[in-house]
Amino acid sequence: MMKATGHSLFTSLTPIHRTILTDHGKFSSKLMYRNFTKSGKPYNYHRKCACHTGSTTVATRYPPPWFSVAPMMEYTDNHFRTLARIISKHAWLYTEMIAAETIVHQTGNLDRFLEFGQEQHPIVLQIGGSNLEKLAKATQLANSYGYDEINLNCGCPSPKVAGKGCFGVRLMLDPKFVANAMCVISSNTNVPVTVKCRIGVDDRDSYNELCDFIYNVSSKSPTKHFIIHSRKALLNGISAKENRTIPPLKYEYYYALVRDFPELQFTINGGINTIDEVNAARTEGAYGVMVGRAACNNPWNLLGHVDSAVYGASPSRQTRREVLEKYQIYGDSVLGLYGPKPNVREVIKPLLGFFHSEPGNGLWKRKADAAFAHCTTIKSFFEETLVAIPDSVLDSPISEAPVCFPEAFAKSKNLLPPPYIVREEELLLCA
Ligand SMILES: Cc1cc2nc3c(=O)[nH]c(=O)nc-3n(C[C@H](O)[C@H](O)[C@H](O)COP(=O)(O)O)c2cc1C
Repeated sequence: MMKATGHSLFTSLTPIHRTILTDHGKFSSKLMYRNFTKSGKPYNYHRKCACHTGSTTVATRYPPPWFSVAPMMEYTDNHFRTLARIISKHAWLYTEMIAAETIVHQTGNLDRFLEFGQEQHPIVLQIGGSNLEKLAKATQLANSYGYDEINLNCGCPSPKVAGKGCFGVRLMLDPKFVANAMCVISSNTNVPVTVKCRIGVDDRDSYNELCDFIYNVSSKSPTKHFIIHSRKALLNGISAKENRTIPPLKYEYYYALVRDFPELQFTINGGINTIDEVNAARTEGAYGVMVGRAACNNPWNLLGHVDSAVYGASPSRQTRREVLEKYQIYGDSVLGLYGPKPNVREVIKPLLGFFHSEPGNGLWKRKADAAFAHCTTIKSFFEETLVAIPDSVLDSPISEAPVCFPEAFAKSKNLLPPPYIVREEELLLCA
């Protein structure tokens, strides 16, 4: 049962309801972010923005993407992103990858794929594809939704994507195509374009080959920011899941890119699980840090520290109960928006790691399993299940971030490969 408190718990979040969900494309002044840098100095952050009223360049004040939540199929949907945004005001949020082909073929049904609550800014749309016309059309169709950036997936190794679909990480084998694709995407939008890639594919895994990719794409397209999942992909024989654990992480390739392409921005990704690891990576020179699985497995402990530990905001006094109350308003407003979907189970999914390692977590999950069978609202679901969680867990603000200094990033800087020397054929390719 939700505990009543003396003041309204809902004032800090624009309530999300159906009218807001269909009112896409406008930048709301409520969503502007405070002006500060990591060192506390003010800054102006100018970005190209696609506005509802047409293409125009305006200054927005989103903090830079020093921390982002990775695109994850079947995880980083509207529900998860809403939860993430309630916990962290500053983290950059990525959509799941949406194939350009899907966008192009679902023109009558686009809201289902592209709409998002306006509180989710800053938000990046990740698209996948290998057909320039479809990438162009998909970008055009996405414009009116007001994403803050478009990202091209060059890292997915799943057989459906990199095999049959011939996109995802397979695109890394054809940097010239990626450069063209990024030009096409950029020329059809007003927002920045970025690439998320691996550090190699199969035996095309030398540091120089990675650099050739970055060099080609950045010199022949407007792409100036790359997100580097710091392990290679193996295209034959292992699953997408194994491709996120078996190939070893090589942060030294990431830091070598930072050294060799000082004019570009690089975000590090892969195997980063805690806020002190995020800060250790940044201390060693990472511009941005992207976290995937840990943000889903333990959203409270990871995202709850982002605003203060990464962006320098005051520590949050928000409790888990307050987060749940906000999330309940959202959840009950979207249930059944598309016929039977989403259902209670789908809306609750992002919360499955919310009580990670806390007393009552196991019992809560058992109660949740039972409640999925008959609860028809998020309110009734919470009433039935939250009795498993002690008040001390529900009513405490996030504890202080642990202070330790993981050495993985500093150590990787002792392993840097020799500096990149642009090969003659690369220069010719870029001529
Ligand atoms: C379930 C799942 C789905 C994923 N879907 C995508 C995706 O749609 N696009 C993408 O670029 N990467 C995807 N990834 C990869 C993540 O974005 C990230 O690169 C990877 O998990 C490594 O980061 P981590 O160690 O912090 O999880 C996915 C990962 C997982 C676990």
